[in-house]
Amino acid sequence: MNREDFPMLSQDIVYFDNGATTLKPRCVIDSVVKYMSEHTSNIHRGDYNAAVITNKLYDDTRNVVAKFINCNPKEVIFTSGTTMSINQVVFGFMKKHLKKGDEVLLTRSEHASNVVPWIKLSEDIGIVIKYMDLNESYELTLDSVKKSITDRTKVISIAHVTNVIGDVRDIKSIGKICRDNNIYFCVDGAQSVPHMKVDFKDSNIDFLSFSGHKMCGPTGVGVLIGKINLLEKMDPLCYGGGMNNFFEADNSYELKDVPIKFEAGTPPIAEVIGLREAILYLESIGMEKIHEHEMKLKKYLISKLEKIDNIIIYNKNSNSGILAFNIDGVFAQDSSIYLNHYNIYVRAGNHCAKMLKDEIGIKNTVRCSMYFYNNYDDIDKLVDVLSNSKDIFKVVI
Ligand code: ALA
Repeated sequence: MNREDFPMLSQDIVYFDNGATTLKPRCVIDSVVKYMSEHTSNIHRGDYNAAVITNKLYDDTRNVVAKFINCNPKEVIFTSGTTMSINQVVFGFMKKHLKKGDEVLLTRSEHASNVVPWIKLSEDIGIVIKYMDLNESYELTLDSVKKSITDRTKVISIAHVTNVIGDVRDIKSIGKICRDNNIYFCVDGAQSVPHMKVDFKDSNIDFLSFSGHKMCGPTGVGVLIGKINLLEKMDPLCYGGGMNNFFEADNSYELKDVPIKFEAGTPPIAEVIGLREAILYLESIGMEKIHEHEMKLKKYLISKLEKIDNIIIYNKNSNSGILAFNIDGVFAQDSSIYLNHYNIYVRAGNHCAKMLKDEIGIKNTVRCSMYFYNNYDDIDKLVDVLSNSKDIFKVVI
């Protein structure tokens, strides 16, 4: 779908690394170029025409995000990406509200950005991290969530869709479990928000994080959405201009209200404007349509790969456009270099989900992550090259 909107697709490439970052449509590129060439200005400071245009676009992005995700615009904070959003929650909120011995539930298939900040917090204040069991398909069941909760559980922090297995967690039911047990519910939406309808309110999420560049937007911008009553109790991690009402020589100061108090300094203006355009663009296609298309492609890909003897697939059942596989006996990076020889772009390695090896028994996989602009032709090219992988070492060496 919509391939003609993506300048990069005019090259002879097959792009299957959408879990890492997505391609940018012309409308997003144009919005950034327009800001830089026609109305460059800072925000919330200038009274001249260009600044008025820029302010309007920047501020309206909060409304666009809020409508897209179903929250209040005041609950939308712009960050540099998912990693920064999660760090803001862990060190700006949890560090103040958790204490030694409190339990935080994660899974072993989480990406680094939803593990390492928690490990640092355990070092800082002595919280206890526990990993919920996954089933034989490396997925998180509601049973496992329920079994993992104890009197000391204070937080569940999970990806909505994991970045290697691509399993879609039932966040609505987990959100209800959290509400019933007085547990903070943090959701990493980096791999879900770009691909399916995510509803912040309906899923009883406390904090939701995602990145612009994985949803057709620019790099350097992400979003943290938090329930307003929680954001009011959260401290910024960064202090400076734009976020204070006043400061005096006697050290008194006052911060602005949520969400502005979390956006110190000059924010990523071009990137926020690009994100606005990206969301409007995705909405014009329709999130249900995007998800359906990816699932059709994935089903088609699996049916083809199953006919090739030496392909091992790790996540046939997961309900997203991510497929993790290996060519039997071949190091994943070699497979990726081999595919690149035919202009097919995938990601290989542990994908920053460095504990997943404890579940699937293998450190590295090749990941094909699809988006709405991929088509059957892309898959046929991939399958064709994999079918002829006997010559892999001639190509790679
Ligand atoms: N989180 C990104 C990925 O899965 C970088 O590739």
